[in-house]
Amino acid sequence: MEKLWAGRFTKELDKIAFGFNSSIDVDSRMYRQDITGSMVHAEMLSKQGIISPVELKEILDGLSSILEDIESGKLEISSDAEDIHSFVETELTSRIGNSGKKLHTARSRNDQVAVDLRLYLRDEAEKVISLIDALLLAICSQAERNRDTIMPGYTHLQRAQPISFAHHILAYAMMLTRDKDRIKDAVKRMNVSPLGSCALSGTTYNTDREYTAKNLGFDDYCKNSIDGVSDRDFCVELLSALSIIMTHLSRLSEEIILWSSWEFKFVELDDSYTTGSSIMPQKKNPDMAELVRGKTGRVYGNLMSTLTMLKGIPLAYNKDMQEDKESIFDSFDTVKVCLQVTAPMIETMTVLKENTLAAAKRGFINATDLADYLTKKGMPFREAYKLTGQIVRHCIENSLVLDNMELDEYKKFSNMFEEDLYEEIELATCVKKRISQGGTGPESVDNQIKFIKENLK
Ligand code: ARG
Repeated sequence: MEKLWAGRFTKELDKIAFGFNSSIDVDSRMYRQDITGSMVHAEMLSKQGIISPVELKEILDGLSSILEDIESGKLEISSDAEDIHSFVETELTSRIGNSGKKLHTARSRNDQVAVDLRLYLRDEAEKVISLIDALLLAICSQAERNRDTIMPGYTHLQRAQPISFAHHILAYAMMLTRDKDRIKDAVKRMNVSPLGSCALSGTTYNTDREYTAKNLGFDDYCKNSIDGVSDRDFCVELLSALSIIMTHLSRLSEEIILWSSWEFKFVELDDSYTTGSSIMPQKKNPDMAELVRGKTGRVYGNLMSTLTMLKGIPLAYNKDMQEDKESIFDSFDTVKVCLQVTAPMIETMTVLKENTLAAAKRGFINATDLADYLTKKGMPFREAYKLTGQIVRHCIENSLVLDNMELDEYKKFSNMFEEDLYEEIELATCVKKRISQGGTGPESVDNQIKFIKENLK
């Protein structure tokens, strides 16, 4: 295939250098965006009198037929082309002849690739948001099924205070809801058209950038042509948002892995999201959750490589920038598949309520409530805290728990203790009485579910 830039050269590009230079295997997935961008560009050229209406019609028909043939599998995107832009242009010219050669008037691959990428990522961002919504629904359904499931809440992975399973899992829903906002924010800044920036300095043709921007669904066109072809901060922003999503998915995965262990046994994953062992017949491994945790590294890596790729290149376009696509495509692919597998894994997971309750019964997790009991009867909190600590120590030394120590024993520590203390430190009471806004109490849990559902697309 003749190179777009063949005129200036007397020799063919070395074979290895050609493969090294070409990006078609990575960017061929942007064929639809490339064709759409070209169509709108051609319409603008015709509207401005730069090409004739007949030429426009030939170009539009040619581009439509290419699109159709790619989608039906009739036309294979060949690796002989350097990238998707040269592939489409060369194919167009071979189909319609001279008019095809006019398409690239007042345009460069530099603004073309920047447009294609923004259009492509805009769609990818939408898909990620929908997938997050599906996961949010799965989390809400678990929360609804586990409003009254008591489990230990932890700090330092030490049992701390009783909470409901719903409250715990909804924390992830809040994080994921912010993740959606981050993606939407990034899209807002990305949705500005670089088309018409041309190679770097604009063009001598009387183009209409507002027209192309509007017809490609952009909110505006970028006001500096050098910036238009040089910046990839929209990639960095999306890569950051994707990295944060992976941080959240990875933490959730880690908990599922821990909870699936015999040591915890808080949850049982559905068979369809676990695997067995080739040698140990008893095994049921949480591979999906482990892979999500494991794939987090590559998404962080893509963010780092893009930041590093950009940091030293002078304005405007440099070939280094071709590396942007491999990184961001991989991050989107990875995040999408992780969300796709996590949502049904959460939806189908069984929470083992007796086990979470049994775990909550050990570890003196109602000690704060005992201290609060005394405080509500008038003892200053610091004093109540200290006294409760002494009671806990007494219990440990005498193999007791707070719930089964006799009232007489309690009275030796303070006269304020009455029969009603047992009701007060009952785990179910501890959870129900946490009525503060955003706490683990049932009303707050209901509010949280409502909040998440209202934020779905
Ligand atoms: N394949 C190139 C990329 O992805 C397209 C832009 C080429 N521009 C150029 N001046 N060589 O960045």
